Amino acid sequence: MRRPFIAGNWKMNTNRSSAVALAEGVAKQAAALDGVDLAICPPSCYLDAVGRAIAGSKVALGAQNMYHEKDGAFTGELSAAMLRDLGCKYVILGHSERRHILGETDAAINKKVHAALAAGLLPIVCVGELLSEREAGHTLTVIQTQFDGSLAGLSAEQMGKVVIAYEPVWAIGTGKVATPQQAEDVHLALRKIIAKRYNSSIADSVRLQYGGSVKPGNAAELLKQPDIDGALVGGASLKVDQFLGIVAGAL
Ligand code: PGA
Repeated sequence: MRRPFIAGNWKMNTNRSSAVALAEGVAKQAAALDGVDLAICPPSCYLDAVGRAIAGSKVALGAQNMYHEKDGAFTGELSAAMLRDLGCKYVILGHSERRHILGETDAAINKKVHAALAAGLLPIVCVGELLSEREAGHTLTVIQTQFDGSLAGLSAEQMGKVVIAYEPVWAIGTGKVATPQQAEDVHLALRKIIAKRYNSSIADSVRLQYGGSVKPGNAAELLKQPDIDGALVGGASLKVDQFLGIVAGAL
């Protein structure tokens, strides 16, 4: 059985005190919950403070990005080892904003995935099509290409450690959520892609999150789909009650 996994992607939001307050609020509410994995991914400059705020709680720490090199002259970048040092368990890689605003390619994301796993971080790898790609009927081709490129060269054991977040770009931050059936169709396709490259037991064990305008009001319906194992939540993860409302939909 796959354990539900809800992660909050705070993006470039909060400040030092609001980040700590939000983390403390989530950790406090999470204390009473069982049967779900939780993570919050603050801006990198607040990882340390947020990590302290959730230490010993049921909430894990995640980063929003990293660089694949171990160390050296890479101004402005953070390594997987640095994120581990800060207490991160997870790292989001290949988010659509990094793909489409910051120009990240599947090849670059693939290097990051390998570096994260080598350092003991669990990657949350994002895939998803643009509206134009969906309208042209190319959704599954885009997902296959992103899977092949971003997750190239992983052993079955490594694949088992990866979380894949399906985030249709047209649903991110737009309030336009995919229907449960649209999301389930892509999740099922992803599971078939994994089974084809590895085997059905790996495919059955990998956790697949949906992301894109997940709110307390639509979470339960999405999370009830057989191949949707969790959510990657942006906007609604910035409010304790909304984030926990989504978590409730997984229980
Ligand atoms: P959203 O963002 O929930 O604000 O749509 C999701 C994401 O980008 O991870």
